[in-house]
Amino acid sequence: MAVDLLLGLQWGDECKGKIVDVLTSNYNLIARFQGGPNAGHTLVFNGKKHVLHTIPSGIFHDNATNLVGNGVVIDPVIFKKELDKLEAQGVDYRKSLLISRKAHLILPTHRLLDAASETAKGKAKIGSTLKGIGPTYMDKTGRNGIRVGDIELDGWKQRYRTLANKHEAMIAFHNVDIQYELKELEAEFFDAIETLKELTFIDSEEYVFQAIKDGKSILAEGAQGSLLDIDFGTYPFVTSSNTTAAGACTGLGIAPNKIADVFGIFKAYTTRVGSGPFPTELFDDIGETMGRVGHEFGATTGRRRRCGWLDLVALKYACQVNGVTQLMMMKADVLSGFDTLKICTAYEYKGERITHLPYNIEAENITPIYTEMKGWKENLTEMEDGSQLPQELNDYIVFLENALETPIKIVSVGPDRKQTIFR
Ligand code: IMP
Repeated sequence: MAVDLLLGLQWGDECKGKIVDVLTSNYNLIARFQGGPNAGHTLVFNGKKHVLHTIPSGIFHDNATNLVGNGVVIDPVIFKKELDKLEAQGVDYRKSLLISRKAHLILPTHRLLDAASETAKGKAKIGSTLKGIGPTYMDKTGRNGIRVGDIELDGWKQRYRTLANKHEAMIAFHNVDIQYELKELEAEFFDAIETLKELTFIDSEEYVFQAIKDGKSILAEGAQGSLLDIDFGTYPFVTSSNTTAAGACTGLGIAPNKIADVFGIFKAYTTRVGSGPFPTELFDDIGETMGRVGHEFGATTGRRRRCGWLDLVALKYACQVNGVTQLMMMKADVLSGFDTLKICTAYEYKGERITHLPYNIEAENITPIYTEMKGWKENLTEMEDGSQLPQELNDYIVFLENALETPIKIVSVGPDRKQTIFR
């Protein structure tokens, strides 16, 4: 059996958690392959909202095994909080949650370093979630990191100390006002490490290989979005991992020829949280309405998300980079009520009309060129079947399918599992 991938095609927050949750019953194994607690995957069912940061979104289903892959970075303190919440809700995660020994650990000083580095950048800051993601991946590629497997070995605390000391020197180098009590942070960290040790650590690439061989169905769950990819995103305003399809290969140890479907998730409009270019951003009432109706506040940081029209140039780029085979359009309900909807189909770039994403999409270089479509007024949130969707929405969907040459298989009309229309 092969592996299906599920990825965000924009700047994150495409409601991937909901779709993983909806699809989980079709899969034996749900695996996270990159990112860490900078993610906030929201699931709503039985009238309750659940937010997961590091744990895969299949955890609420009895029959799925959940794997935190080698490409993920784990903050034991945040992980413990997630586990405590699951426990309080009666979720028996001990049997169904596996962790790769090769996943890297986020240390308290990684978080502090993230804050120091962002503060030092001043106006040029990335708008990081400050979860220590960048510094942890830097230590991974710099070959200094501490991995989950290390905590099973003697002497890892000495390596921890050496690394934490180095981080403290780096924090001091930034010469910014960061107040911290490392002793307290470390007490919390080592306590959380003990909780982590109660879980099952595995050599996950071998586990995934055997699962594929045994015919198990596997869904790889992406975090963040393609435009935040370290290589293909709007660098330097990106995260520090490969959020695109290739990241699933390196983040789980899956051979490329084992990938079957690639599900691309996008919102019917666009949002971005943090700094960085955003050609279709709206600064008017329409953007404000999208944010208010769509509850566009970060699940991890609570920050207000910037909102704008759908950018087909960027979406096409993300489909190409990922090899998307099926699309899923989220939050269609948020667009109800607008007279006219705009879709960016090209950019004016240095006096020319282009339809690909160029190296630099800063506002001073790009003017979006829009196609206008008629909006719909109907409230979609109670709709259960594709036949109920208004004609204008069907026109919007067909326009996108034609432009992206990829079918839209799911239209989401609300946050609940039930508010999902299959086409
Ligand atoms: P970091 O990954 O926390 O360092 O953040 C880098 C950039 O990616 C910032 O602009 C964040 O706002 C953005 N980012 C990181 N994770 C997410 C996410 O899960 N959703 C949306 N944006 C994110």
